[in-house]
Amino acid sequence: MPTSAETAATTTHDADWWRQAAVYQIYPRSFADASGDGIGDIKGITSKVPYLKALGIDAVWLSPFYPSALADGGYDVDDYRNVDPRLGTLEDFDEMVGALHEAGIKVIADIVPNHTSDRHEWFTEALASPKGSAARNRYIFRDGLGANGELPPNDWTSIFGGGAWERVTEPDGTPGQWYFHLFAKEQPDLNWDNPEVHEDFLATLRFWSDRGVDGFRVDVAHGLKKDMDAELPSLETIHRADLFKDGEHPLWDRDEVHTIYAEWRKVFNEYNPPRTAVAEAWVHADRRARYASPEGLGQAFNFDLLQADFDADVFRAIITKNLAEAAATGASSTWVFSNHDVVRHATRYGLPKGTGRRGGGPDGTDWLLEGGDPAKVDAARGLRRAKAATLLMLALPGSAYLYQGEELGLQEVGQIPDEDRQDPTFFRNKGVEVGRDGCRVPLPWEATPAAGSSFGFGANGAHLPQPEWFAGYAASVQADDEGSTLAFYRRALALRHELQGAEALGWQDSADDDVLHFVRPGGWHVVANFGTTPVELPAGEVLLASSDVEGGKLPGEATAWVRAAR
Ligand code: NOJ
Repeated sequence: MPTSAETAATTTHDADWWRQAAVYQIYPRSFADASGDGIGDIKGITSKVPYLKALGIDAVWLSPFYPSALADGGYDVDDYRNVDPRLGTLEDFDEMVGALHEAGIKVIADIVPNHTSDRHEWFTEALASPKGSAARNRYIFRDGLGANGELPPNDWTSIFGGGAWERVTEPDGTPGQWYFHLFAKEQPDLNWDNPEVHEDFLATLRFWSDRGVDGFRVDVAHGLKKDMDAELPSLETIHRADLFKDGEHPLWDRDEVHTIYAEWRKVFNEYNPPRTAVAEAWVHADRRARYASPEGLGQAFNFDLLQADFDADVFRAIITKNLAEAAATGASSTWVFSNHDVVRHATRYGLPKGTGRRGGGPDGTDWLLEGGDPAKVDAARGLRRAKAATLLMLALPGSAYLYQGEELGLQEVGQIPDEDRQDPTFFRNKGVEVGRDGCRVPLPWEATPAAGSSFGFGANGAHLPQPEWFAGYAASVQADDEGSTLAFYRRALALRHELQGAEALGWQDSADDDVLHFVRPGGWHVVANFGTTPVELPAGEVLLASSDVEGGKLPGEATAWVRAAR
């Protein structure tokens, strides 16, 4: 039996490598800081390649590493074909890709096509150019309303709160037109009706593909095409989904967005193996297949499990629906519980049912839920359920997306002082949203910090401060502990390589409504107990369980992988 690394190395030119890949998301500025400036960097990632190899993942997805003022954590890109100097150089990037490939790990880059940053050279040129100019036509500029254009073109709001239009000062110093931004004002939306925008992104895709990038994660894939020509409907109207036919909403999921991805697919297919892509598309489940089609991006995130309560029926329905959808398009399904935009699942599952949104309280374990109700995070229960859910996910056909730190069982950091917060949602919604910084706190690599420094993240602290309790999650400690969450992830990922076969899953009847049971090819049984009463396991060898199996019984809130007796 080949080791996982050997398996990966032999599949380097396999065009289907992505179909069942375990993809580990790295948020570069919070992963590992080699330069000691408090910000994670490319050399930091390279230094952790042995860790990633030992973890057993197939690919890394890097959140944006491009030059950026960090108005939105790097999703405000100044230059798509460069590396932020604080993170390193293009040479550092090449070295990192080489080291990852050497370890049998593919590289997925985040591409942000809906908006540039307001420091991008195109936007600077647009501001310096007159109304109606070619430079302004790369973005979405409009005249304001009111006698002197002092009112925004309409009442739309941005996703991060506040208005979606920002007024500019014209080159002659007078107040002028307004530009549109779906997100922060530092993120002006591009005009995807302009062929120049198309050409430029094709050049960017080739630039990174030529450097060895294996695939792309496409930010806000469902937002690029907009109908901004007709009279703009009001905010109230665009929030009424029932008023628009599928594919005809002015802002989201318009049918013609797929013409862009058809062009991208041609570029992906210029390479061997073809470059892959996964769409971040928050669309109705019935519309997701369009993004995942082989003529388009090939794969799309399904955020259904990420949004689900820990509940057997809910999980089963989501799994069944998504496998059927993937089979219909020829894509493979995707599964994810945590990423840089949501509360870590080890914390979410420790909050009362149906909640899980934002809000650290006074001591880091008291939380304010949406609506203002206080709650305690039951961290032990949260982690127990998170491991159970993850072991179930890692047994499913399709790609599994993991978020840095979940392999350490890391909890969300609830308590971050206002002055340390960075997320624009916090600044644009003061007092309502605390933002997403709690899942972006740099990783604890060591349990004991050298004087004044972080828990092994870098030599000079961390850009988002790590709480004291991070020491208990340090990777160095877990690496030597067979009972740690890290050891559990390593074992699960290694077994996943051994056990993967055809993308098939057969549900088994279960006497208990709280128990899901399915079989994968080769007699690999997966039993997940969402209830609290222990249940019998099928006969065979227990390969791995998320909680200790005693007397052949799987405890509550646990999953086991069992190889059936032959
Ligand atoms: C989705 C990204 O995941 C999120 O972090 C970002 O703020 C928005 N897109 C805007 O780019």
